[in-house]
Amino acid sequence: MLRIENLSFAYGAIRTLHQVNMVMEPKQITCVMGRNGVGKTTLMKNIMGTLQANSGKVWLAGRDVSHFPANRRAKAGIALVPQGRHIFPKLTVEENLRVGLEAREDRKRNIPDEVYDIFPVLKTMSRRYGGDLSGGQQQQLAIARALVGEPKVILLDEPTEGIQPNIIEKIGEVLRTLVSEKDVAVVIVEQFLDFVKEFGDSFYIMNRGTVVADGITKELTENLITKHLQV
Ligand SMILES: Nc1ncnc2c1ncn2[C@@H]1O[C@H](COP(=O)(O)OP(=O)(O)OP(=O)(O)O)[C@@H](O)[C@H]1O
Ligand SMILES: [Mg+2]
Repeated sequence: MLRIENLSFAYGAIRTLHQVNMVMEPKQITCVMGRNGVGKTTLMKNIMGTLQANSGKVWLAGRDVSHFPANRRAKAGIALVPQGRHIFPKLTVEENLRVGLEAREDRKRNIPDEVYDIFPVLKTMSRRYGGDLSGGQQQQLAIARALVGEPKVILLDEPTEGIQPNIIEKIGEVLRTLVSEKDVAVVIVEQFLDFVKEFGDSFYIMNRGTVVADGITKELTENLITKHLQV
């Protein structure tokens, strides 16, 4: 579904990603791991197109989207739930969700009921300002906003950061249900090992802007964890 080929990126003169290669399959949850500052968020932005790679390619369902700006990638089926959520605080929950509809290629202008079925709290709070929601509610809103666009690939950058355990569990279950029911590839940047082991299918570990290990989550050994993840 999503293939990243030899992708490199620099912030000005600072080389941040070097020749990254990854494959994210539909119906699977792929976890991208690594310590702080190794380039995980930078990679997500390069996939979404909010940053443009210096070299390399991003393939979506066999189509080269490398030269697309972010809005075209969104229409092509890539959605990003950014680190820190970035919902619109001065828009209501419903208005935030309407923004997600912009990514749809059809002209559908109604928020699918399905989204409220998945996150009932958003129905209850549909008229409340995004900024007045709790952190966990905002994270659910950010995920829901991505889902209303019916993406082929959904990227989530540290969705469990600062979220209480029962909401973390809920998010994991929602994503598992999503991949079991739809042909969507879920990509999660995650530092919380228990979450990766419970909900992930495969993993990539990054270090200094490059992939240093990958496999299925069952193969995530203590050795790899000590070497690349523990601080
Ligand atoms: N806009 C920017 N300009 C210059 N350097 C940046 C910019 N954004 C990030 N960096 C640097 O690029 C490197 C990778 O940052 P990035 O945010 O991708 O890391 P990360 O793996 O997501 O970290 P974290 O786990 O803390 O979220 C870091 O050294 C960071 O300081
Ligand atoms: Mg980050």
